[in-house]
Amino acid sequence: MSGVNKNIVILISGSGSNMAAIVETAQAHRWQDRFGARVAAVISNRDAAQGLAWAKAQGIATAALDHTTFESRDAFDAALMAAIDVHTPALVVLAGFMRILTPAFVQHYAGRLVNIHPSLLPAFAGLKTHQRAIDMGCRFAGATVHRVTSELDHGEILDQAVVPVLPGDTAEALAARVLSQEHLMYPRALERLLAQA
Ligand code: GAR
Repeated sequence: MSGVNKNIVILISGSGSNMAAIVETAQAHRWQDRFGARVAAVISNRDAAQGLAWAKAQGIATAALDHTTFESRDAFDAALMAAIDVHTPALVVLAGFMRILTPAFVQHYAGRLVNIHPSLLPAFAGLKTHQRAIDMGCRFAGATVHRVTSELDHGEILDQAVVPVLPGDTAEALAARVLSQEHLMYPRALERLLAQA
């Protein structure tokens, strides 16, 4: 991550609460002054993603690319790369971006691509992580910030947050407990990456 302007592009699919936590931390912790870093754009594969409206209201550039209108995964990822690269990103941050990425996409952003996953990786890659943790009788659950490789939910672990699984937990209750920790951990992990650069 070099250069003075470290643009961050955040990809979302839904509510964007992690994205909002990152934007708010970037402001509160003066990432622009300290690291030359700013959230330059928020991009979604869903036009209706709540987080897009929030980002727009903050004055952040937004874009939506509906993946269902593309002929193939390759075509979507190529268009997504073009939309991202307009902002010459130092970091591309996946924050609840619910798409499997092509190897070409991952390769293009090698060293610049990070994700948050709602489990303690390497346990429970993939979907329905909270229900699977409950069904397995896990006493602890959590979330992981990791670098992205072409293998789904793998790559170097940058940080983890742990929460207890409580008796009688539903997937929704556990997800909310994990999410509140994600909001603290993801901005902190990104700040560490920016500080290292
Ligand atoms: C978060 O819990 C995130 O870890 C998860 O989606 C949620 C998005 O919430 N990501 C994945 O499941 C990725 N496979 P948010 O839109 O409110 O940040």
